[in-house]
Amino acid sequence: MTATETFADQLKNATWNDHEEAERTAYLDALMGGRVSREGYADMVAQHYYAYVALEAAGRALADDPVASPFVSRELERVPSLEVDLEELYGTNWRDEITPSKPTLTYVARINQIADWPGGFIAHHYTRYLGDLSGGQVIRKLVERAYNFETSAGVAFYLFPDIPDLKEFKVDYRNRLNSLNLDEVQAKRVIAETALAYQLNTEVLVEIGKRLPEYLVA
Ligand code: HEM
Repeated sequence: MTATETFADQLKNATWNDHEEAERTAYLDALMGGRVSREGYADMVAQHYYAYVALEAAGRALADDPVASPFVSRELERVPSLEVDLEELYGTNWRDEITPSKPTLTYVARINQIADWPGGFIAHHYTRYLGDLSGGQVIRKLVERAYNFETSAGVAFYLFPDIPDLKEFKVDYRNRLNSLNLDEVQAKRVIAETALAYQLNTEVLVEIGKRLPEYLVA
């Protein structure tokens, strides 16, 4: 860490290799290449659902926590939009159609395990939401093109109608990270948890990737 590096910079730089690993999974590579069927895309949406249910429950439980509360914002909540997408992708009885994979259950268990540690919650919060506001927007464009949904149902997860300026929101989010004023030990713990959050996400994607032979379209 250099003297001028903020915590937000430090967090990003220290975990960017983990980001690359997630981004380079065979599944995301195929998805970004427009080679995944609608069914294969739906699988990722379903796995997201379980993780966000856990993450957003943890957020609600920490809503009055002085450290975590600045990160908990209603505009970010993804469960309602995931429900819209799942209904579009699986039909009205989507709840009976989806199942969490083993890596998803492991990821959810970790979110639940750290739910009373504000720093750990922030690590998982950052990994998902800042990603959805960044690379997620690239994924959205590809998904819109690949599946031609008639309305936003199907890609609602990637839309943040209550955040007027995503770029500004991300700048503000990084300021919130910097305002945590973590000491070195705390900062290291949050960085390590973020690396773990990436790894758990990667494992979820690797598992979906095992079904690529079924999901690949010509
Ligand atoms: C096709 C897949 C992906 C692409 C193309 C992608 C691309 C990007 C891009 C372009 C940025 C912005 C970098 C910047 O502002 O300098 C970003 C940031 C980010 N992405 Fe991804 N990403 C992908 C997958 C993921 C996944 C799977 C996760 C998490 C599980 C993730 C988490 C993040 C996070 C947390 C940031 C914010 C980094 C920071 O500014 O601190 N991304 N991504």
